[in-house]
Amino acid sequence: MINVFQPSLGEAELQAVAEVFASNWLGHGPRTRAFEEAFAAHLGVAPDHVVFINSCTAGLFLAMDLLDIGPGDEVVLPAVSFIAAGNAVAARGAVPVFCDVDPHRLNPDVGHVADAITARTKAVIILHYGGHPGAVAGIAEHCRQRGVALVEDAACAVASRADGRSCGTFGDVGVWSFDAMKVLVTGDGGMLYVRDAELARRARRLAYHGLEQAAGFSNARVSQRWWELDVREHGRRLIGNDLTAAIGLVQLGRLPEFAARRRAITEYYDAALADAPALRLPPPLPDGHESSYYFYWVQMDAAIRDQVAADLYRSGVYTTFRYPPLHKVPAFKSDAVLPHTESAADETLCLPLHQGLDDADVEQVVAELRKSMESRAAA
Ligand SMILES: Cc1ncc(COP(=O)(O)O)c(C=O)c1O
Repeated sequence: MINVFQPSLGEAELQAVAEVFASNWLGHGPRTRAFEEAFAAHLGVAPDHVVFINSCTAGLFLAMDLLDIGPGDEVVLPAVSFIAAGNAVAARGAVPVFCDVDPHRLNPDVGHVADAITARTKAVIILHYGGHPGAVAGIAEHCRQRGVALVEDAACAVASRADGRSCGTFGDVGVWSFDAMKVLVTGDGGMLYVRDAELARRARRLAYHGLEQAAGFSNARVSQRWWELDVREHGRRLIGNDLTAAIGLVQLGRLPEFAARRRAITEYYDAALADAPALRLPPPLPDGHESSYYFYWVQMDAAIRDQVAADLYRSGVYTTFRYPPLHKVPAFKSDAVLPHTESAADETLCLPLHQGLDDADVEQVVAELRKSMESRAAA
């Protein structure tokens, strides 16, 4: 089976983990700090504003805490979002307000977000569909004008930039995922960026029980009695550790190579599928935008999409659709009607895209997809 997503791990990651074992310090320590510094440099922000955490989901929940989202507040997010974003809003007793997206890009335009903002809106959460930055700069500007906080769920966007600026750093808070399906993996893990310096310090405290820190988590000495607890606000335990940070440091070094291979596969799909019957390819990246190439998505008539997915599965090619629309998830009890989101959810299929695919794999994906499209579209 050709997987739709897959990590690339090798000897260098194994060696980095072996060094952590040998150091006998598995918890939050020097490698965590080194990973935060390296990731901050990759983003182009100061290291104090970046916290290594144990998942992007935890970061989204923490973002809602940091912004003091509460009962009665509305948070606008595209219906094409990962479930954790909606859950993080609902967990605070706030109301997720789902907005529509561009039917082909699957990212919201500024207008989709703007139309959903009301006097009760306290924050907006967007993602960068498939790694494409989308209208992030315009949405950030609009949120600033309306006095609404912006959270970027940058799980798809670890190497994405718009006009030289890293996705995840346009808003007030950005969160990345390093889970097993992402471009850069640590097993489980995530990174949090907080623009405001004081809020970034609060984030670091809340990520570790609420403990005031004199000099980092592993040296949280606040008096001569270093075992005493200086906690003034209730926190959780969301921090990463040196084992996962060691993997992340190696993966970050390999990120340009991963992104380049993903881009080459994307370009191959673009060229090889350009004349495939009844198939729509992802819209091109605007000038100045760089993608992580996290998804490659194709669109076709809703009447054949599921059959094409089944044909591909039978011939050893795994596909999927991200992200099933949240306004249809029963727990959110939404009565929103979002025509573009709904058509995209029925017409879109994500093809295999990861740096472990070789040329024969991508040729097979194309051949099987063309074969299925020709037979299904003709039927
Ligand atoms: C857009 C998006 N946000 C958040 C997450 C959650 O990330 P994590 O598994 O690190 O909690 C995912 C995971 O698939 C995702 O795709």
